[in-house]
Amino acid sequence: PTALRVALLGCGVVGTQVVRLLTEQADDLTSRVGARLELVGIAVRDTSIARDPVVDPALLTQDADGLVARADIVIEVMGGIEPARSLILRAVASGASVVTANKALLAEDGPTLYHAADEAGVDVYYEAAVAGAIPLVRPVRESLAGDRVERVLGIVNGTTNYVLDQMSAYGMGFDEAVAQAQELGYAEADPTADVEGYDAAAKAAILASLAFHTRVTLDDVSREGITSITADDVAWAAKTGHVIKLLAICEVTPDGVSARVHPALVPLAHPLAGVRGAFNAVFIEAEAAGELMFYGRGAGGAPTASAVLGDVVSVARHRVLGGRGPVESSYAQLPIASPSST
Ligand code: HSE
Repeated sequence: PTALRVALLGCGVVGTQVVRLLTEQADDLTSRVGARLELVGIAVRDTSIARDPVVDPALLTQDADGLVARADIVIEVMGGIEPARSLILRAVASGASVVTANKALLAEDGPTLYHAADEAGVDVYYEAAVAGAIPLVRPVRESLAGDRVERVLGIVNGTTNYVLDQMSAYGMGFDEAVAQAQELGYAEADPTADVEGYDAAAKAAILASLAFHTRVTLDDVSREGITSITADDVAWAAKTGHVIKLLAICEVTPDGVSARVHPALVPLAHPLAGVRGAFNAVFIEAEAAGELMFYGRGAGGAPTASAVLGDVVSVARHRVLGGRGPVESSYAQLPIASPSST
């Protein structure tokens, strides 16, 4: 093909940056892919609200089904379970490749999507679903595919890291730090998904599934957020040479695969203690590779769009050159350690 038709589902903070990169890098993307990426439409709930000037209003539509039907590549950045799942399944069934940033959907029902993609012979890529700009899915899914991953551990939620960091650096209380995170646009108006650990738990489920070649869903992840952490807790931790971080920990235990998210005391000398603000950092321990560390921006429009575009280039190349990326549909169901036993 000389051109590939790209449909964008969702035009929030991430979607807008996806449009910007597709537009500004159009020539470079064409030479990297070997075909032009033509944005044919952007599905949104409301076409009448004001948007960034980078978004051509003529591309906006409320007919997501109709848009998906005429696309070679569907980028889903709308979030939530429905209608995202139905639209992705429709895209896959019609032979389109899919790039999604939807951690909640993948953590709840990833295998349904992977099976559908496998049957249709198309790619579903999702680098942006875990830790924004940081390459984590591709390293675990591809680079380490010949090794045996033993443990994945780290900070995968920028909002809570920012909140804990403000409490630790300035003696701020929890509510004050959350209010500040909201002002800066890190935390949502309803910060529940971040501060209660749901966002981190979804990412842990996705990482554990990939790392251990099994199916871990959100319900399998033991979860404790940071809402009960007080300024006193943080001060006490500092006195003993520690800092409190919300960690996601995925590992293989004698009871099976374990994935959990909870606040932990990290010694000040540990590299995770130095992860400030809204940054993320993840360690991966593999049998042959040893310890690997990944660090960067885990949230925000542009960083997340960077990961989305990388996936778009990969799936577009497959459409031009033939071939496809890895598939998760053959994963066995390993025993999962019950969340309460960890
Ligand atoms: N709310 C997330 C975070 C970003 O703060 O890390 C999206 O996953």
